[in-house]
Amino acid sequence: MATWDLSNTKHHILICNGSSCNRTGAEELTQAIRKEISNQELDDIIHTTRTRCNGRCQDKCVAIHYPKGTWYKELKPVDAPLLVKSLVNNKEYTEKVSHTFHSQGFERVPGVITGVSKNKSQVNRVSKTL
Ligand code: FES
Repeated sequence: MATWDLSNTKHHILICNGSSCNRTGAEELTQAIRKEISNQELDDIIHTTRTRCNGRCQDKCVAIHYPKGTWYKELKPVDAPLLVKSLVNNKEYTEKVSHTFHSQGFERVPGVITGVSKNKSQVNRVSKTL
């Protein structure tokens, strides 16, 4: 267990380690991102956390960057250098972005699957038609 000093932290990467992402290499992705951060001596400004499922399993492997609120999809270990570089440059790794956050909420990138609605009335409507 650790209690890190976050006073210099500027970026937080939440790396999904849920079962779907784990079956697609989340452990290797996590290690690759952490290794890249260490290699670039960025441990003080980029913090990482493993999470359980983030509810976008078809996008596996998923990672989320805060404070920007950008969601990434289909990440592989080979993406780690470009992902870390983009954060440091205050940009997005656009090739792998699935959702961006704006004042109105999250915006899905065109081509990314919509997913199942969380609106119960829509779910009920769908189940009644089945
Ligand atoms: S296991 Fe990663 S989004 Fe579900």
